[in-house]
Amino acid sequence: MDAPDAISLMPKRILTAAMREKLLRSAEKVMKNAHAPYSNFRVGAAILLTNGKMFSGCNVENASYGMTNCAERTAIFSAVAELGPKIEIEAVAVTNDKGAACSPCGACRQVIYEFGPDATIFFQGAEGPKQAHITELLPEGFRLK
Ligand code: THU
Repeated sequence: MDAPDAISLMPKRILTAAMREKLLRSAEKVMKNAHAPYSNFRVGAAILLTNGKMFSGCNVENASYGMTNCAERTAIFSAVAELGPKIEIEAVAVTNDKGAACSPCGACRQVIYEFGPDATIFFQGAEGPKQAHITELLPEGFRLK
């Protein structure tokens, strides 16, 4: 067997159930700030960074519908605005006020991938709460390198 390389020797942080619940609670709390007069669908997202910090965001709609910013991107852009572009996303939790199945949209998957190519996503699936790796949601994510 090949010797393990440096990367596989690096300890991977364990995402505990308590941490997952904390993320979900944070997503639920920020959901209340959503600006969603057009869809009436409030979404909250919380992200956990590899440095342990958490950020949250809600959807912000616009009368020009296409200008809407999803909760996930609001959370990620807040983290970048606060800490700069070197953030690494470890996990993302998404909630909505309808208890509806709601995974991150395609645009948000690509934005999550930019800062979290190894991120775990918690969301409401068709059959209940679900967890998926970002590359399951976005196979062959785009990288400009
Ligand atoms: N939305 C999110 O914020 N995140 C998702 O994962 C799915 C959709 C928002 C966008 C829009 O404001 C509303 O939900 C309905 O599409």
